[in-house]
Amino acid sequence: MAVELNHTIVASRDKASSATFLADLLGLPAPTRFGPFEVVQASNGVSLDFMDADEVHPQHYAFLLTEAEFDEVFGRIKERNLDYWADPMHHQPNEINTRDGGRGVYFDSPDGHYLEILTRPYGSGG
Ligand SMILES: [Fe+2]
Repeated sequence: MAVELNHTIVASRDKASSATFLADLLGLPAPTRFGPFEVVQASNGVSLDFMDADEVHPQHYAFLLTEAEFDEVFGRIKERNLDYWADPMHHQPNEINTRDGGRGVYFDSPDGHYLEILTRPYGSGG
């Protein structure tokens, strides 16, 4: 069995602006429209399909990137004056973490989803 996550639906109050926010921030291609979705395509083939919803229940989405990409994305987080935290519970504001010998940081999407960027997968630090 070789099962890969292919796509997931991201509930949004404004799918176009939320999808564009994520694509711009992460340096991914601009979203494309597919049916009722605004689709953001990650590099590993997984797509995040933004769909309008009356109610948004916050979910967690984490993105693995290189150290150089982390610099770029974290630079945009700071440029935009987004709040960020070293931890998922938002107890350590304005800090990043260095778990597993890499770097990671948490921030919120415009819809209140809990976003994370990290340079080393959980548990990879030995
Ligand atoms: Fe996470």
